[in-house]
Amino acid sequence: MTHPAPTELLDLARTVALTAGALAHRRRAEGVEIAASKSSPEDIVTAADREVELLIRGLLADARPGDGFYGEESDATSGTSGLTWVVDPIDGTVNYLYGIPFYAVSIAVVQGDPDPASWNALAGAVVNPALGEVFTAAEGSGAWLGDHRLHVNHDVPLSLALAGTGFGYEATRRVWQASVVGGLIGQVRDIRRIGSAALDLCSVACGRLDLYFERGLNPWDYAAGALIAREAGARVGALQADAEGRDLLIAAAPDLYDQFEPVLAALFDRFPVAAENSRK
Ligand code: IPD
Repeated sequence: MTHPAPTELLDLARTVALTAGALAHRRRAEGVEIAASKSSPEDIVTAADREVELLIRGLLADARPGDGFYGEESDATSGTSGLTWVVDPIDGTVNYLYGIPFYAVSIAVVQGDPDPASWNALAGAVVNPALGEVFTAAEGSGAWLGDHRLHVNHDVPLSLALAGTGFGYEATRRVWQASVVGGLIGQVRDIRRIGSAALDLCSVACGRLDLYFERGLNPWDYAAGALIAREAGARVGALQADAEGRDLLIAAAPDLYDQFEPVLAALFDRFPVAAENSRK
């Protein structure tokens, strides 16, 4: 089935993400409360997460009724057009709860089954309403912060790389992730935990981070950010030419990726993943 050009889909993603970001920002100013917890008591959802996702879902359904929807806070639906919108209404929910200005609305549109192993991301927008930053990319058209074209940092040796990562919500997993970080921190410039995977990936795209890796992400956390990082020149994947996914996502300039991959593989050998860690 034919579909609009990626740049046209991006216009919609951007418009909807800006509207949704404005709502999230307004609700943040009014005060935020936890509505429920999900996979663990630390994994929370606010009323704003749900309200923002509903708004996004409605706007996308009005504009593109035949497309599927795959979001963090509501049931997935498959469409008839071959396109699916992959949405995190507020990535960085814990930052949002605490008023830390690093949270984002993340909207991507992908072609193919809503499975990150096989889909092809066509367009993505990541809006941080607290800082007024709008990151966008359409397949083949580069990555942008507002009207500024983005390029990843090149020629950074691993020892001078500023690396970003994140931690899951489950305690056993976080302890394991911290072991890996403990093994890495002496081999890089420093490590940042920004608290939003979407913004971590945009940070690689715009050179605020040299590399980012995380295990246990959900597709809505990274669908838009991975395209933005790629379009800025990053290699995005996992170990041994695997595609990025729940098991692992790495993003960095290709030369740094090549240096980092064996180091991370050695750390995974040194700190084997416990069985309970293989779940999110
Ligand atoms: C989380 C953030 C965080 C990452 C977690 C994600 P959420 O998403 O992206 O940076 O470390 O793995 O689950 O819960 O804020 O949408």
